[in-house]
Amino acid sequence: MKATKEQWSSKFGFIMAAAGSAIGLGNLWKFPYITGTSGGAVFVAVYIVFLLLLGIPILLSELAIGRFAGMNAIDSCAKIHPRWGFAGAFGVIGAFGVMASYSVVGGWVIRYIINSFTDTNMNSDYFTSFSAQSFEPILWMAVFLLLNCLIVKSGVSNGIEKVSTVLLPLLIIFLIAIMIYSLTLPNAADGVKFFLVPDFSAVASLSDFMSIVFNAMGQVFFSLSLGMGTLITYGSYLPKDNNLASSTVTIVTLDTIIAIISGLAILPAVFSFGFEPTEGFGLMFRTLPAVFSRITGGTIIATAFFILVLFAALTSSISLLEVIVSWVCSNTKLTRTWASVIVTVLIFIAGIFSSLSVGAIPDIKIGNMSLFEFFNFFSDKIIMPLGGLFICILTGYVWGIDNAVKEITNNGRFKFAAKKLFAFSIRYIAPALIAVIFASSLISFILPLFR
Ligand code: TRP
Repeated sequence: MKATKEQWSSKFGFIMAAAGSAIGLGNLWKFPYITGTSGGAVFVAVYIVFLLLLGIPILLSELAIGRFAGMNAIDSCAKIHPRWGFAGAFGVIGAFGVMASYSVVGGWVIRYIINSFTDTNMNSDYFTSFSAQSFEPILWMAVFLLLNCLIVKSGVSNGIEKVSTVLLPLLIIFLIAIMIYSLTLPNAADGVKFFLVPDFSAVASLSDFMSIVFNAMGQVFFSLSLGMGTLITYGSYLPKDNNLASSTVTIVTLDTIIAIISGLAILPAVFSFGFEPTEGFGLMFRTLPAVFSRITGGTIIATAFFILVLFAALTSSISLLEVIVSWVCSNTKLTRTWASVIVTVLIFIAGIFSSLSVGAIPDIKIGNMSLFEFFNFFSDKIIMPLGGLFICILTGYVWGIDNAVKEITNNGRFKFAAKKLFAFSIRYIAPALIAVIFASSLISFILPLFR
């Protein structure tokens, strides 16, 4: 195994690429809807606590492992300890699960881009009738996957890095504008209140609370692209003079700001138009067209906005596809092109069932979840936390805090004031939290299967 020689061209380029992977449908589509189904502000508060307790230390560990070893996720972990390569292997399985639902949603976004040209009054039933069709959503998912395949097969080159450097700031500007508009809608204050002021009646029982906690943990992993080797890989392209701790804080801050802005863009509109916050994964697709339809020139804004959403999704999904493709390339004789094509086709096949389970054939179920929900559950709540747990153990016990801190501080060159906190979190808090939450949710998932 050769060490990777590629490097990010600049600190800014790295931050943009890492933030580009983190910022995606997880922030724009998932965060607002999970906030809606998980009781609002209580969820947001738990989410932020987990960002600090789990998100930051695990992200920092992944970057440190990657930069220390300078190789792909599996080999980097194996360099720390020959038996620990498996800790990097979660990415390959998890990325497949994420992609099987991510590309369905990516397809919806493409459909909305096209639709915003042709149909000015997409009403809120449009999402239901569209997503319940069998053929169309699969077609648009195929287009989304094709775009992914084309980019990844030619290597995640400079191109996409440059593109996201331009589009990410544009997305932020658009989102802020939409947020400001949403906040001026009648009854917007109800949405803000739902988002920011905890309503403890939403947490009537311990099991309500556990499900909020579990959702928040899954969302932290999903939104920051954790537990699946993405950041190990990105860290392996980092030069030694990068200050890992401050990069981590920047990436987490950017990701969180975008999530909060999109919550404040979507939830006030939900309340203003009388939609249900508990609506689920259709929330963004129902609410935003209603917002755009009230603005003069809304069609153009809608088109531009959904194009930006598509790019945010693509910069994340290619990082997922890349995890699988790079592994296939180094473990089979397939060329990069063939690896990309075959992996894309496999995701497409899983995606077909995932897409159909959303509406056309609701009987495609595992336990009490549609296949689409199951793929989400499996990746966010099983694979990523397990991957994260092993990263904690690898860093905190196998590699050792002292070695990790050496890498983080570049042998003492950078200050790392949070060293003690980092050590405590990676060794005790994070693994304990993940293990407890994980076990209790696994039980609550498995029990109903035997009823
Ligand atoms: N973080 C991305 C989002 O919020 C999704 C994503 C990209 C991801 N790469 C990942 C999630 C790796 C988990 C692991 O949309």
